[in-house]
Amino acid sequence: MANHEFRPVSGNEPCCPLSKRAQICLGVGLLVLTVAVVAAVVVGVLMGRPPPQPLEWKGRGTTKHFPEIVLGRCLIYTQLVRPAMRDVDCHKIWEAFKNAFLSKNPCNITEEDYQPLMKLASQTVPCNKSVFWSKSSELAHHYTQIRRDMFTLEDTLLGYLADELSWCGDSGTSEMNYQSCPHRRKDCPNNPVSVFWKLVSWRFAEAACGVVQVVLNGSVSNTFDRNSTFGSVEIFHLNPEKVHTLQAWVMHDVGGGPSESCQRPPLSDLKLIISKRNMTFICHDNYRVIRFIQCVQNPEHASCSRLTS
Ligand SMILES: *[C@@H]1O[C@H](CO)[C@@H](O)[C@H](O)[C@H]1NC(C)=O
Ligand SMILES: *[C@@H]1O[C@H](CO)[C@@H](O)[C@H](O)[C@H]1NC(C)=O
Ligand SMILES: *[C@@H]1O[C@H](CO)[C@@H](O)[C@H](O)[C@H]1NC(C)=O
Ligand SMILES: *[C@@H]1O[C@H](CO)[C@@H](O)[C@H](O)[C@H]1NC(C)=O
Ligand SMILES: *[C@@H]1O[C@H](CO)[C@@H](O)[C@H](O)[C@H]1NC(C)=O
Repeated sequence: MANHEFRPVSGNEPCCPLSKRAQICLGVGLLVLTVAVVAAVVVGVLMGRPPPQPLEWKGRGTTKHFPEIVLGRCLIYTQLVRPAMRDVDCHKIWEAFKNAFLSKNPCNITEEDYQPLMKLASQTVPCNKSVFWSKSSELAHHYTQIRRDMFTLEDTLLGYLADELSWCGDSGTSEMNYQSCPHRRKDCPNNPVSVFWKLVSWRFAEAACGVVQVVLNGSVSNTFDRNSTFGSVEIFHLNPEKVHTLQAWVMHDVGGGPSESCQRPPLSDLKLIISKRNMTFICHDNYRVIRFIQCVQNPEHASCSRLTS
């Protein structure tokens, strides 16, 4: 680009051995040079030092490409999956998400840290459309992928953003820790991931209304597990003034072995908790609608051919 600025050569004074002005110029020049050299040395020394190491934890580190995944998922969700939310600002969401945990002690994350994110991503699930799950993640999500009007937590924006991801920072740096993150039991409970899920789970439960459903796994021994998110957080945050019925679907694996059912103790436990909280409890083994979904994946199985005839 030939757009140089021509500086007029000023003061064409006759030359003499070092005018006063030249002496000043030289002095200032030397001073600037000295400062520059000192600064360079200081920077060099600092850069030569190894950067402070992030702490080591027992949980898996931040998911590779975490920022890109969260931003990408936010755009996919708001622009394509639920276009009713197309006006949500995903860049702001990402800012709020990372500000919740970056540069912070990853064992000392609080609900307040996530409040700005919660505010930006608030979303209403219609009554009768909330689906909880425990130990049946895959099946419950297949169910809501087909019944697009129904929502598991992972079908809401916040659950969708974070599903299956891991993340944490460190108080000594503004970087994410891709090496390791605190494990809930082995390190500390108030880590970025656990606090996030606890918060979004109880908000999801608290907002539920009408008839709510839970998909349970009848092919494991702890079909209703009091230590699960559903058993420890979600059922206690259902609001009996808004939720009148909990429908539990106890689903057995197609061709699965010995298993739990609505009549057995774990489910009576759940029934007791729900009834005590003044909500109606309904339980069905192998709810037909969800059974169809299992059978699409196992079309040849004998128990599935019975379903269609
Ligand atoms: C944890 O965070 C709170 C509030 O941000 C702060 O008051 C407290 O000192 C922190 N504790 C530790 C151990 O870092
Ligand atoms: C929710 O389901 C109940 C019972 O099936 C029904 O009476 C009610 O009208 C439904 N509410 C909405 C908003 O669809
Ligand atoms: C029950 O849990 C087992 C073990 O995690 C899993 O393989 C199976 O798919 C689950 N079944 C249902 C119905 O969710
Ligand atoms: C739940 O967790 C507590 C402590 O974390 C443990 O002592 C208890 O055995 C667990 N209960 C079940 C049913 O797994
Ligand atoms: C359940 O309902 C009864 C009668 O309406 C009321 O006395 C009781 O406080 C309620 N319990 C809960 C946990 O809401």
